[in-house]
Amino acid sequence: MSEIHPTAPTVFLETFGCQMNELDSELVRGALTALGYRFIEDWTTANVVLYNTCSVREQAEHKAYSRLGLIAQRKRAGEQVVLGVIGCMAERDGKDMFRRYPQVDLLCGPGELDRLPNLIENTRKMQSLGEDAPRLSKDARSALAGNKSRRSTTLAAADDNLELLDLSRAFEPVNAASERRSAYVRITRGCNKFCTYCVVPNTRGAEVHRPPGSIVEECRRLADSGVVEITLLGQTVNHYRYVHGAAVGSDGLERPQIGPGLGAFRSSAVLSAGTRTTTFADLLARIHEEVPHLQRLRFVTSYPRDFGADVLGVMRDAPRICNYIHAPAQSGSDRILKLMNRGYTVREYLEFVERVFDFLPDATIAGDFIVGFPSETDEDFEATCALVQRIPFKNNYIFKYSPRPGTVAIDRFADDVPLETKKARNNRLLDIQTEVSRRVHESWVGREVEVLLEQVRTHNRQEKPVGAHISREASATLHPQSKNVELAWQRTKPLQGTQLLGRTPGDLITVIDVPEGTWGASLGQIRRVRVTGSSPMLLHGTLL
Ligand code: SAH
Ligand code: SF4
Ligand code: F3S
Repeated sequence: MSEIHPTAPTVFLETFGCQMNELDSELVRGALTALGYRFIEDWTTANVVLYNTCSVREQAEHKAYSRLGLIAQRKRAGEQVVLGVIGCMAERDGKDMFRRYPQVDLLCGPGELDRLPNLIENTRKMQSLGEDAPRLSKDARSALAGNKSRRSTTLAAADDNLELLDLSRAFEPVNAASERRSAYVRITRGCNKFCTYCVVPNTRGAEVHRPPGSIVEECRRLADSGVVEITLLGQTVNHYRYVHGAAVGSDGLERPQIGPGLGAFRSSAVLSAGTRTTTFADLLARIHEEVPHLQRLRFVTSYPRDFGADVLGVMRDAPRICNYIHAPAQSGSDRILKLMNRGYTVREYLEFVERVFDFLPDATIAGDFIVGFPSETDEDFEATCALVQRIPFKNNYIFKYSPRPGTVAIDRFADDVPLETKKARNNRLLDIQTEVSRRVHESWVGREVEVLLEQVRTHNRQEKPVGAHISREASATLHPQSKNVELAWQRTKPLQGTQLLGRTPGDLITVIDVPEGTWGASLGQIRRVRVTGSSPMLLHGTLL
């Protein structure tokens, strides 16, 4: 670790969007800290302000744009500050953002984050020359993949410096300052699915799979440093597939590899029999076996198609892999699923769920739905409601369709469901889901569960939560799960005494009343709990 100098440049970093972005922010933080930057939680004084942005829905972009105005004010007041927009919105907007938001100094897409420190350094150098110094060209101020990431079909193209960023991750031992018990590990970057509504294949580029050796090593080092729970990340995590021997560097080490859909299909035709492949099931089994001191292993997001019995078999046989599956269905209407290009029917989704419960009777399933997709009729929507009623979803994130530039849907289909209808469908589906969630949580009452204790609340005062996802970013956008926690808390009775809060392997949030002053040592531990009660979003229990 580098010494932190009192005059070290300060950085404020705010993260929007998904877990991928949270992980990217953590890696950026590590890389910049190693270069001597100091992270602070005050955007009004930071020398460098970075927004790690999301483009998945228009609303997500609005949040980031509103922040840019705040920094413009600082600049107008004559302050020297570097403003960087990084992540998916930088990639989607491209250099046009410089024109529309002249206060933005630099842009860096999610596939180019290894170049971010350089961009920042260069901008700082130019700024230090004073107001009259020429501004760097737009090219010199941006690192964007453009179409490159989708055009590259060679395996060599995947042998990128970005991998170094994942590998450069800092492994701090758990202590009072870092308090990290949960961590993300990326297994796949990008996406090849091209669901018609979705920007991610454009912003994150082609699917690239990291070599299993690197992934296992990263998990091992995190577990060594005290991490209790690892969540593997990918947009379609179960499509992970690594063909050994196809992408080896001159140093003999395996490199990231373009996934099925592009180069890999071509190379698999070339590859002869006997080539060894690591599938997602193999990868799970390897991590479980080779990192025995990791207590919990989970993964998001699963694609409902091709979720094979091989994966379910590994989950059944490996006790430390959590029986939790987040596999968005998106719609309950075959016609809409087809327009979405999701590649499965409602029947196939139901068969998938049936298979999950055959293998894992205790599993919890969660997902996402989009309401108001172009041309969605009342009948289509009723089919979605019926699907949600039919499956014991622990929870579903429900989104109103938002047309996104660069997607197929915005070009081909008119956004013809009125906003009022989208809102009404959103609320109705939420009500149905709340009832389903209530039943799911109720079904656990009377049972014993293991809970990873993460937060403590006492006398209505919420202590700093434990867990990398929640506490590390200044004013971080909370992990969707923690938003649920907040909501659930707001709905619970005023607190008396002290409560511990954690999650079961199935990701059910559990609240435990404990005597005053007894919680200190238990945070970050997994404890057995008897479930004594429930509400739509919570289990209540007592420590055993
Ligand atoms: N890779 C994951 C999802 C990533 S995006 C998967 O395929 O399941 C997270 C969620 O945002 C999606 O599941 C979808 O429900 C929602 N979403 C994506 N694009 C959207 C759009 N244009 N409008 C509304 N919701 C959208
Ligand atoms: Fe988007 Fe579909 Fe890829 Fe998920 S699978 S990231 S929804 S294109
Ligand atoms: Fe958003 Fe990009 Fe994630 S668009 S959801 S931050 S992959």
